[in-house]
Amino acid sequence: MLAQRNVDIDMLIQNMSIEEKVGQMTQIDLGLLADGNICALKKPQTLNAKKLATAFKKYKVGSVLNVGCGSGTISLDLWHSIIDDIQKESLASSKNKIPVLYGIDAIHGVTYTKGGTLFPQQIGQAATWNPALVKRANQISAYETRASGIPWNFSPVLDLARQPLWSRFFETYGEDVYLAKTMTQSAIEGLQNNKEEYRVAACMKHFLGYSLPLSGKDRTPAWISDRELREYFLPTFQTAIASGAKTVMINSGDINGTPVHANYDILTTLLRDELKFEGVAVTDWEDIYKLHTTHRVASSKREATKMAILAGIDMSMTPNDYEFTEHLIDLVKKGEISEERINLSVRRILQLKKELGLFKTTRFDKINYPKFGSAQFATVAYEAAAESITLLKNKNNTLPLSSAKKVLVCGPSANSLDLLNGAWTHTWLGRNDKTYQTPNKQTILQALQTNLGKSNVLYAKGVSADSAIDIQNAINKASLADYIIVCLGETPATEIPGNINTLELEDAQKELVESLSKTGKPLVLVLCFNRPKIIHSIVNKADAIIHAYLPGNEGGHAINDILYGKVNPSGKLPFTYPSATNSLVTYDHKKSEEMHVDFSFNGFQPEFEFGHGLSYTSFNYGDFLISKNTLGDKENIMLQIPVQNTGTRKGKEVVQLYYDDVFASITPSVKKLVRYKKIELNPGEKKLVSFKLTKEDFSFINKKLNRVTEPGDIILMCKDKKQKIEIK
Ligand code: BGC
Repeated sequence: MLAQRNVDIDMLIQNMSIEEKVGQMTQIDLGLLADGNICALKKPQTLNAKKLATAFKKYKVGSVLNVGCGSGTISLDLWHSIIDDIQKESLASSKNKIPVLYGIDAIHGVTYTKGGTLFPQQIGQAATWNPALVKRANQISAYETRASGIPWNFSPVLDLARQPLWSRFFETYGEDVYLAKTMTQSAIEGLQNNKEEYRVAACMKHFLGYSLPLSGKDRTPAWISDRELREYFLPTFQTAIASGAKTVMINSGDINGTPVHANYDILTTLLRDELKFEGVAVTDWEDIYKLHTTHRVASSKREATKMAILAGIDMSMTPNDYEFTEHLIDLVKKGEISEERINLSVRRILQLKKELGLFKTTRFDKINYPKFGSAQFATVAYEAAAESITLLKNKNNTLPLSSAKKVLVCGPSANSLDLLNGAWTHTWLGRNDKTYQTPNKQTILQALQTNLGKSNVLYAKGVSADSAIDIQNAINKASLADYIIVCLGETPATEIPGNINTLELEDAQKELVESLSKTGKPLVLVLCFNRPKIIHSIVNKADAIIHAYLPGNEGGHAINDILYGKVNPSGKLPFTYPSATNSLVTYDHKKSEEMHVDFSFNGFQPEFEFGHGLSYTSFNYGDFLISKNTLGDKENIMLQIPVQNTGTRKGKEVVQLYYDDVFASITPSVKKLVRYKKIELNPGEKKLVSFKLTKEDFSFINKKLNRVTEPGDIILMCKDKKQKIEIK
């Protein structure tokens, strides 16, 4: 244990050399410290003394991360010895004894720590419409990240999912601004607002406008006007800043021809001057170099370094060499970048280290974390998975199934923990079946076998994610079964390896469903997709469809419990499920986007609507009770909605309040979510759901880029109930 230190950041900065300051602004990958070739690393834990000395004695590096290359799954003990060795070297390397800030992608739980708790990916967490549960999941991720000795998490992703082709769709909280904002607040509070030893710094990703590449391919150009940036893509970041988010990672792509890493208007004028963000801005992977190598706005890496730092970057995820460090030292020494400018970044970085308690101790021993990987934490992951699963279709109440019957299980995600978890699971891309499995976690097939007994569950994979394997075998086995469950899926992927050329579900998977539907047996589809793959041609072949998103390690159990009625489904789609590859329209579209070929307004025909999700019970909505129907400045309206469970099962319902701003100076959306609340009702039980609304709830960004609420009529909508109010 190190001696407690209470540092004065300004004094510290005065004592630091230019080299030390630039070192603080440098973040390297663990591969640069370990034995062997970076991308062939088998044992990242084997730190190399010479490489450690280069990093800390020579370059005085301030931050380390690790990603894909060989990192695998590391035990708590190993994490502690890795972090200890790094910290020891760093503290011994300079008179100022500055600890290293280790950062990691604990995206849906502790990605890289053996035995940790893995939750549904963010898209599934959004589908719970349960912010309290999402907060709890994030508290656990923070606890387990700290237990691994790591105080900084590159999470959450706050980009809005408005381009379904995009490979990182599953990493978001969906397409809607309001839903994503509520989830954002929960995530930031869950990660940060805990006791020192249980909290991590959150990282808002990826500022700004990353999720709408025109081509759908990762890190390709986005064309987004300033008004749309502020209307759709900025609010989650504003919420995160208001919730105290400590760090931000920058968008790797370019908007309107300017790479964001070189965009002063976004990184300084907007982020610092307007939004008053005081935390650390880190680049994404190699993104300063990419200003030269990919985006080609800088004619050398040196120029790229100058551009990015002057635009507002604090720390460079370099991460595989020290060119950045050398260029920045040179730029400061030659007066091309002032020392005051780098002091600003160094102060933010040191302040963060101080707030994370790293100057007091760099040791966070595993004995302080008895709940790591516990059954208690797994229960929360199970609840999150169970509450996310969304019942999209249930013809003639096919579900829940009877456990007295025989079932055939098929499909790529039927017997794969990889396909339940997706990327950022043990490794960057999460393709590790057998290599890094957690022994006591069950696939869908295994969970069904546990529930029904092995002899009642037949299995034939039928197809992989993209090609046929043994479809005929599946057809043969179907004759012995009462029900068929086909678990569709997508190969785990993210970023550039996740790029696809069409949203259409692979032919092999469609063929499996089509062939099995011909048997006439009740057919249930379970979807485990990274994004909404088009299933239009097979929707009618299925009697029931559930969307499980990427439900994590407890997904197998949760899916079983939904299928067999132990859990009543309550998830709701956090995005519009398209019915055709080129019909990618969000729920909050404009009236003109509803125009049909016959000139009616029936052109918006998604497969399933945003907010859709069935239950095994039924709910009845009564008329609104409203305190008044005009709304002026500093006033509010109290709205109450009576909801009753009219079925025979206990169930959870998400009461969703939308509005239509009838006429406005910017073409209004046909509807926008303004409030929601998840409630639970026993059979026959009735509750009044109350919402308080103010003028700001109906605001939007106008032509002059100001947030305004214009006078006029607003129609409030909840299910089939409507109520007009007037904004004064
Ligand atoms: C991703 C980030 C991630 C970083 C570090 C990048 O390639 O875009 O989301 O945090 O790598 O792993």
